[in-house]
Amino acid sequence: MTTSNMRADNILNSLIRNYFKGSLTFSLQPEDAELMTWTNQKAFLDATVHSELLKRYPVKNEFSKLFFKKLISFIEPYQEVHDDIYKFLCSAMKSESSDMFCYRHYVIGDGLRNIITIKETNNMVVNGTTGMRTWEAALMLADWALCNEDIFLNKKVLELGSGVGFTGITIAKHCKIKSIVLTDCHDDVLKAIRENILINLPDSINEKNNYMIDAERNSQPNIDVMMLDWNYDDEIPSHLVPDIVIGADIVYDPSILQPLCNVLRNLFDKNVELEVYIASIIRNEDTFNQFLRTLGNNELTFCKISLECSELTDWVVPISKQRCLLKIIRNKNFAVGA
Ligand SMILES: C[S@@+](CC[C@H](N)C(=O)[O-])C[C@H]1O[C@@H](n2cnc3c(N)ncnc32)[C@H](O)[C@@H]1O
Repeated sequence: MTTSNMRADNILNSLIRNYFKGSLTFSLQPEDAELMTWTNQKAFLDATVHSELLKRYPVKNEFSKLFFKKLISFIEPYQEVHDDIYKFLCSAMKSESSDMFCYRHYVIGDGLRNIITIKETNNMVVNGTTGMRTWEAALMLADWALCNEDIFLNKKVLELGSGVGFTGITIAKHCKIKSIVLTDCHDDVLKAIRENILINLPDSINEKNNYMIDAERNSQPNIDVMMLDWNYDDEIPSHLVPDIVIGADIVYDPSILQPLCNVLRNLFDKNVELEVYIASIIRNEDTFNQFLRTLGNNELTFCKISLECSELTDWVVPISKQRCLLKIIRNKNFAVGA
């Protein structure tokens, strides 16, 4: 492959990834725009808006309009713009989609083969829940899990406050776990998780719309969705007691810190070897420190895990944001029954 072909491939790859990521931060130097020939523009369209995935699960219309306008502004001075790029922009301009929900495509690794598609909203709160979008801590936790697959090997995992399900689904798809249960307290969120499982792991649900049990599944892990509200001390069925608990962006409201610790304590009572991993973007230090104190008051201890490696460089959380991944275990001095 010539240097210029390699450069064209890199530009194409970067444009496609930006489109999937929902990012408008790309730019093309004149020499890059020169390489966006008719053929390469078609390759861009084929990998994005003309792909079966995007036709079925389109990205936010408002974003598409801005992306295509920006792309045209870079290419137009140097190359003839592909008819289908104009056609797509015109149809996006005519569309009256209200855009409350859209699909986001999270690319894993270098190529474009591994994509997690999530139906979500951009809004912080919908119907009284923060669970209808993917938060940065979810990307951080999924990224860390992918870089530390051995921790999850053959383990039973339970996710607290799953939201639309990005982290749990990524782990179910890419780490060789035994099973995973995604939980939340809000009916709309649980419905969204089920939809997202259906998109990404269609083989995990049988014709009767039930999650498959071991014998029915091929290579897919056992995946389930369950209502779990930390405010209610519901018993977790013994077959669902996990080896690992995960949670992303669940430490944000002082009123739920004690209920959250109660759930952890109950799970530790059932499995002393339990490991808990909680990822946070620290927006309010007081709330986060209060959580650390609440852990201590509940015979739980923690260590901070370093977050150096990244499999999924596209998702890196800006370093300006304070972030933390905690591993929580039961205090060694704790005596059962104390
Ligand atoms: C900020 S969102 C994080 C969602 C997801 N983990 C992510 O990072 O994208 C917090 C989640 O915790 C859930 N949650 C809040 N209070 C809860 C409670 N008492 N019991 C269970 N889940 C709760 C919310 O419904 C929401 O889905």
